[in-house]
Amino acid sequence: MAEWVTGKVIQVEHWTENLFSVRLHAPIDPFTAGQFAKLALEINGERVQRAYSYVNAPSDNSLEFYLVDVPEGKLSPRLHQLQPGDDVMVTKEAAGFFVLEEIPPCETLWMLATGTAIGPYLSILQEGKDVARFKNIVLVHAARFARDLSYLPLMQQLQQHYGDKLRIQTVVSREQTAEALTGRVPALISNGMLENAVGLSIDAQTSHVMLCGNPQMVRDTQQLLKDERQMSKHLRRRPGHITSEHYW
Ligand SMILES: Cc1cc2nc3c(=O)[nH]c(=O)nc-3n(C[C@H](O)[C@H](O)[C@H](O)COP(=O)(O)OP(=O)(O)OC[C@H]3O[C@@H](n4cnc5c(N)ncnc54)[C@H](O)[C@@H]3O)c2cc1C
Ligand SMILES: NC(=O)c1ccc[n+]([C@@H]2O[C@H](COP(=O)([O-])OP(=O)(O)OC[C@H]3O[C@@H](n4cnc5c(N)ncnc54)[C@H](OP(=O)(O)O)[C@@H]3O)[C@@H](O)[C@H]2O)c1
Repeated sequence: MAEWVTGKVIQVEHWTENLFSVRLHAPIDPFTAGQFAKLALEINGERVQRAYSYVNAPSDNSLEFYLVDVPEGKLSPRLHQLQPGDDVMVTKEAAGFFVLEEIPPCETLWMLATGTAIGPYLSILQEGKDVARFKNIVLVHAARFARDLSYLPLMQQLQQHYGDKLRIQTVVSREQTAEALTGRVPALISNGMLENAVGLSIDAQTSHVMLCGNPQMVRDTQQLLKDERQMSKHLRRRPGHITSEHYW
């Protein structure tokens, strides 16, 4: 049984009508960047719980989560109503294996995210632990519209901090903009546009690809990397090139 602690909301940032970030104080156990907690609220006498990735570095003393309000969902519309001073339950212990320790040695680490799944990468990069072992890191955030790229300013700050080691790229699927690529991640890998824009290649000799977010994006990208780049899923018992986390 998970042990729960009470978190106190200290800040809520509303980025768009649907996207928001919540900052909390809660007495949790130490976690590893890339892991997630469960948040819960009592709704009609029942505890409703869902998984949310930490955005903050483990060394940060406040906890940050990046969420989308799924209008037909059970918990996210309620979390969307949180205000400073409110309580929310948090699992004391974090979970998950989407962490750098699980990534085998490689020259270029690709971090690909859709929507709110940019969170774990921001935690990893803000913490900065173990990143020295990669020559290049590429952080890619794909969203429907440019206005949904809530953490672009932080991505830019991280890029400045890491210099040549980190490249950032945004992708939007439902509009054309000057800065972002337009389309979906698997198609932009297949037609070479993502690698062209970044200036690095995705191949089994040099790369490891982390995929996080929309499960159909994860599946489609895995299939493409398998078919067109001879890359395979990374398992502890059989090392490969792709590490994934599905958000639903
Ligand atoms: C390991 C893990 C980490 C997660 N981290 C986050 C996170 O950091 N931020 C976050 O917002 N969600 C995250 N999720 C998803 C989250 O747990 C909930 O599923 C989500 O908040 C919807 O909950 P709900 O009760 O409102 O709706 P549900 O009734 O659970 O809604 C289900 C539907 O909502 C859609 N959906 C769910 N999550 C998302 C999402 N993130 N983006 C777009 N569509 C979605 C899907 O179509 C899904 O079928 C994570 C899930 C997992 C498994
Ligand atoms: N983000 C918003 O502005 C908004 C507004 C209203 C409601 N919502 C709610 O939020 C939820 C969706 O949130 P979201 O936009 O963050 O997540 P999302 O639907 O997962 O979309 C995020 C990005 O992933 C892309 N994607 C989807 N399937 C893919 C696939 N198979 N391969 C590659 N890329 C793929 C999307 O492209 P496509 O655009 O091509 O699908 C989009 O660019 C919905 O449940 C909706 O109810 C969001």
